[in-house]
Amino acid sequence: SYSVSSAFDFNSALFPLSSSGAGYTAIGTPQTPHGFDLRAQQSLEKHKSLTYLNGLSLVIGLIIGSGIFSSPASVNSNVGSPGAALVIWAIAGLLAWTGAASYAELGGAIPLNGGAQVYLSKIFGEWAGFLFTWCAVTVLKPGSAAIIAIIFGEYVVRAVIGADSTDVSPWINKGVAMLGLFFVTALNCTSTKLGTRSADFFMFFKFFGLLAITIAGIIVAVAGLAYNKDTLSTTWKTTSWFEGTSTSSSQWAVALYAGLWAYDGWDNTNYVVGEMIHPSRDLPRTIHTSLPLVILAYLLANLSYIFVLPSDIINASNTVAVAFGHTVLGPIGSLLLALTVSGSCFGALNATTFTAGRLVYSAGKEGYIPSLFATIGLSPNSHQMRLPRRPNSSRGKKFTDWIADEQGFFYTPIPAMLLNSLITALYIIAGDFTTLTTFYGVASYLFYFLAVVGLIVLRVTEPELERPYKCWIVTPVVFCCVSLFLVSRAVFATPVQAVVVLAFIAAGIPLYWLRVGRRKNRRRKAGAGGDSFGLISGLIGLSLCAAQ
Ligand code: ARG
Repeated sequence: SYSVSSAFDFNSALFPLSSSGAGYTAIGTPQTPHGFDLRAQQSLEKHKSLTYLNGLSLVIGLIIGSGIFSSPASVNSNVGSPGAALVIWAIAGLLAWTGAASYAELGGAIPLNGGAQVYLSKIFGEWAGFLFTWCAVTVLKPGSAAIIAIIFGEYVVRAVIGADSTDVSPWINKGVAMLGLFFVTALNCTSTKLGTRSADFFMFFKFFGLLAITIAGIIVAVAGLAYNKDTLSTTWKTTSWFEGTSTSSSQWAVALYAGLWAYDGWDNTNYVVGEMIHPSRDLPRTIHTSLPLVILAYLLANLSYIFVLPSDIINASNTVAVAFGHTVLGPIGSLLLALTVSGSCFGALNATTFTAGRLVYSAGKEGYIPSLFATIGLSPNSHQMRLPRRPNSSRGKKFTDWIADEQGFFYTPIPAMLLNSLITALYIIAGDFTTLTTFYGVASYLFYFLAVVGLIVLRVTEPELERPYKCWIVTPVVFCCVSLFLVSRAVFATPVQAVVVLAFIAAGIPLYWLRVGRRKNRRRKAGAGGDSFGLISGLIGLSLCAAQ
């Protein structure tokens, strides 16, 4: 019989007592409540295809998105001085790194797809994993993807129509955003390989873009020092880097949020640990290469902005990168930078779609949403899409070989991917992004906090659990303290919004009862009614949230 327990030799061996309670009953049985064959549902994880490079590009590909090209304004203007802004970029980076290192330990100890969903279920009980999944599937993943898509649209329009065109109808931006979403979805539905190959490509593209910004900044600085001091920005010439630093803690907090958005996405590889070929080796390697690289790249890019642009432009412009390009190379520079930022956002959209599809898939696998979403391919019964391997080579075969894995499979959870993109599209249309960003910040940090607290709990309750990677205990403690501060600060600063977020999370509790609790009592009967109820209440929740 097939079960995750036997595939990973993890469930029953390591959590013997919790196997009846902590939510793995659905996986442990060969049939879902809806009668689909689970063998196929596990085939994504059985079919391991992700390498170290893929892991790296999924993390870096999502982290480097829009933030580094547009957040500097809110960082600089809030903390008040270039020196303090660099401090914020360093702190935000280190904080992301502590979180990612903690997640690397969790991912090694619990090597399954799903990220926080499986960690919370294992450690606190299935309800916690369910609430995370509820928020992640309905808001966190599609909401953040919509933000990235909209910024993609804005920059493409800017590149086409001209850098300072401000009077473009938002619907044009949104239309382009939809087009980007459509392409990314098509790529990721076609094959896993195609999704990861494009992630790899965009990772290099982004690094190249940031490197170009850094080199341009250095050239301007060196040339300015050597020949003509006037080309240097006023910021660079003032001797005091910390002059004007703000002393208001709330301004520092707002700057920190902006920095954290730019570093967010460090948990992206954790969603697909189950598909990694060598998770215990490659997950920590992925984290400890990608985070320092991104921190370095961000600090250098910010230094370049400071070298080239006067503070008032950095503070005021939401499109620092385009202003940078304009100062260095004129109109061609702004065009190049607008294209770079759109490419970067497209890559981030690709990386988040790849993993969001997997998260929805594993929610289906757990029975949280209709099990149609836990199938591979397009129809409930086409779980594997095997490509014909014709002996005579033709051009078509070359392409299909290129997008399939060694055995000729191109596995991808198409229904899950489509659901995620559909919800993302709704957010792009509805798009009130201030609400969405606040929601995103509070809810995501709440769940990061819980998962990392879970790491500490797990150290105490399961000391014998095999941990291929164990982080320094100070790491999760620091992360917990800071993220708790961030969440509670948001609660005090914007109590109404915080209550909305908490209410939305709490709305998952009755759903949990319908989808999971009842099933636990009366195994097979809970299916059909729950399906439609789940979907309807999901949609109501979505529209409430959009209306907010
Ligand atoms: N860091 C990304 C950016 O700068 C945003 C990542 C959003 N996070 C996520 N989990 N989708 O655009």
